[in-house]
This record gives sequence, structure tokens and C-alpha cells, in this order.
Amino acid sequence: MKIVVLTGAGISAESGISTFRDSNGLWENHDIEEVATPSGWCLNPELVTRFYNQRRAQLHTVHPNDAHHALVELAKYHDVSIITQNVDDLHERAGSKNVMHLHGELLKSRDEETEETYEQLGDMKYGDKSPSGNLLRPHIVWFFEAVPKIIDAQKEVQTADKLIVIGTSLQVYPAAGLLEFAPEHCEVILIDPVDPDTRGRYRFLQGTASEQVPALVHELI
Ligand code: OAD
Repeated sequence: MKIVVLTGAGISAESGISTFRDSNGLWENHDIEEVATPSGWCLNPELVTRFYNQRRAQLHTVHPNDAHHALVELAKYHDVSIITQNVDDLHERAGSKNVMHLHGELLKSRDEETEETYEQLGDMKYGDKSPSGNLLRPHIVWFFEAVPKIIDAQKEVQTADKLIVIGTSLQVYPAAGLLEFAPEHCEVILIDPVDPDTRGRYRFLQGTASEQVPALVHELI
């Protein structure tokens, strides 16, 4: 069976990474506008660089949780692909192979001109250049920017027999619109502590990712 999994910040919450909308539009005490928009980058690139350096450093202190691990188990029995809105690498560190990052990756930087990406394991410095001599920026899709992988993600969802949506408030488009691409026969299952009020269109499993994902995986294998 082809299973597509769409994850959001909630799957990493129990690993110790804060979600976005649970903190009133703040991201680790910063206004989202300041650190996650092109204008924030233009106004204060040093602050933005420092912010993502801190997020990258935090990544080295956290670990995948039972939900990430359960998805690896699921892939032993089914054809699983993961589309994540998260910029952490916890799916990969758990051992998932087929992971698409819709909103970029903390462990990469990007050439502002060519869009080429580079591994970025340690701190960036504002002014760092790519091998082509252009300015590097964090490889994050900021608000108001296009989401280059969205067409690939839509195609993936169109081939799903099941779509499992974990820990996302479904407030940010185009990612939230991916559910609309599920084919007729595809069961859509949402896992979240908070009912997203989709008016019964989907199967909703209320609870945290680390409780509900392993239980669902157990059911599916
Ligand atoms: P949000 O912060 O909007 O939503 C997190 C969701 O996780 C909420 O529905 C919570 O109820 C749920 N949640 C909290 N704890 C949970 C737990 N232990 N287990 C399961 N679910 C839990 O995060 P996203 O929907 O991922 O974009 O946000 C989407 C995008 O907006 C992000 O990718 C980010 C942000 O701005 C960029 O960085 C570009």
C-alpha cells in the first residue's frame, strides 16, 4: 500500500522543538516577521543568521521520538513517503529514507543567485559565500516565498492509498492544501491533540504524536 505522511511541527514537539502557533506567532521568542520573511532577512540579516544558527545548534541536542521511529517501522511493510514542513532532520535521523522537505532544511545553506544548496552543519556567518561567489542564506522557505517542491508533493499525494497527517495546524498554504489532492479511495487520517475542525471529513485520532503514531502503525502492519 502506498502511504503518504504529511508532518508538521507537532511531530517534533515531544523531541523538544517548539511548534509555531502554540506560541502566539512567536518562534523561540522572535516575531515570525523578523526571522522568517524575506523582509526580515533584508532588514537584519545578522539577526536572521544568528537565529538559524541557534536553531541548528538546538538540533544537535534533540533526538527523534517514538513517532519518528514508528514511521520507519511502517516503511518496512508499506511504500511510505514523508512530506514534512519541518526544517529539522529528525525523520532522517530516525532512519526514514523517503523524506521531502517542503519548507527547507536547517542543515543546508543556499546560494541566493543559483539556488544551489550546500551542507551546513555548523554556524553560518552573514557574508559567507558559496563556491560560485554569491551570498549564502539559510535554506528555509520563508513566508511570502514560493514553495518549489509543492508540485512534487501534490503528485505524491495523488498516488496515495492512505494519507496520514501528523502534528500540523493546517494553517499554512500551500502545504495545508495537499489534503485536497488525496484521491477518492484514499483514507485521510489526522493525528493532533487539537481537533482541526475539518467537520468529520477525515478520520481524526486525538492525542500526541508519540502516543497515536505508534498505535496507528501497529494497526497498519
Ligand atoms: P504549527 O505550530 O502551526 O502547528 C503545530 C501543530 O502541532 C498544532 O496543530 C498542535 O496542536 C500540534 N501539536 C502540538 N503538540 C503536539 C504533539 N505532541 N503531537 C502531535 N501534535 C502536536 O506548525 P505547522 O503546522 O508545522 O514554516 O506550521 C506550518 C509552517 O508554519 C511551518 O513549517 C513553519 C511555520 O511558519 C516555515 O518555517 C517556513
